[in-house]
Amino acid sequence: MEKIKTAFIEINKDNIDKEKIKIAGKAIKDGKLVAFPTETVYGLGADALNENAVKKIFQVKERPFFDPLIVHISCLEELQDIVSDFPDIAKKISKMFWPGPLTMVMKKNKKISQYVTAGLDTVAVRIPKHPIALELIRESKRPIAAPSANIFTHTSSTNAQHVFTDLKNRIDIIIDGGETSVGVESTVIDVSINPVNILRLGGITVEDLKKVIPDITINQDSILNESKSPGMLKKHYATKAKLFLVEGGKEKMIQEIIKKAFYYHGLGKKIGILSSFENMNRYPNIFIVEALGFENNLELYAHNLYSKMRLLDDLQCDIIISESFENKGLGSAIMDRLRRASN
Ligand code: TXA
Ligand code: MG
Repeated sequence: MEKIKTAFIEINKDNIDKEKIKIAGKAIKDGKLVAFPTETVYGLGADALNENAVKKIFQVKERPFFDPLIVHISCLEELQDIVSDFPDIAKKISKMFWPGPLTMVMKKNKKISQYVTAGLDTVAVRIPKHPIALELIRESKRPIAAPSANIFTHTSSTNAQHVFTDLKNRIDIIIDGGETSVGVESTVIDVSINPVNILRLGGITVEDLKKVIPDITINQDSILNESKSPGMLKKHYATKAKLFLVEGGKEKMIQEIIKKAFYYHGLGKKIGILSSFENMNRYPNIFIVEALGFENNLELYAHNLYSKMRLLDDLQCDIIISESFENKGLGSAIMDRLRRASN
């Protein structure tokens, strides 16, 4: 792989420096790769209409070509060049959740490169809710294809330092716009079929989607057998350390985590535990315990999840043991990520 010098551009999302956005926008137009913040995780962006630029995304991420990308746009008018059909149900959903952490899979327009869609006849589209992402799309005047800005199967990036760790000397620009807010990726739904089907859990909860689409399905099968959403590999979002997710009621869970931690401690392993603030003092202090949030504030938990997973890797833990959550609200998306990371 060609080694290039990665430039950092720091941009304040609450007071965007137009000159800096211009530099990044020109880079996109010139077919370069630009990592940028969204409200979910950092994206690794390229001009979705430039096939060579799109191919580079796969190379630098070491991502197989069969895993299609999400196309990011700044407003509904830009859909024209991307989809061949914008069904009524999608219009209704877009009014509720765009801009925001929701991606819709629709029938593709011919202009979109086969590399973006991995040869499928559908394309995934999202309007992100982040001022820097939106300005970058407007400035480049291009739809921006962007997967999460991390090495394939690795934990996604929620700040610019994470992106640098994974992709330094491989991409042209990293826009440092601070920490992302949501912390887990967008929910992906397929609106090209009836009923609408959830392909990936994420920032918009199933409960919220059901209010607008009561008959929406979650095809866990299609998620797990990788047929419909090729990127939904069982092993994903992974840490370098081996990760265990311990499920069960609270007391049983805590006892099981302590037991597991001591077992691996006895084998000479370094242990990290992902815990809630409520439970963190329950674990012996010979282990590294990182609290992510409160049991009743899963937004905070999701926001911290990837950072804490990466932190335990940086601290050279061999084993990470995580608490689990009820399968509701954002808890479902958090559990999905932890299950895949533990696979
Ligand atoms: O929050 C997010 O969605 C972030 C930010 C950067 O927008 N992006 C992201 O992209 O997570 P990525 O590439 O890591 O995940 C995209 C997911 C993959 O699981 C992929 O298989 C699925 O979307 N996908 C993309 N196009 C699809 C299509 N045409 N049909 C079904 N699934 C598709
Ligand atoms: Mg990803």
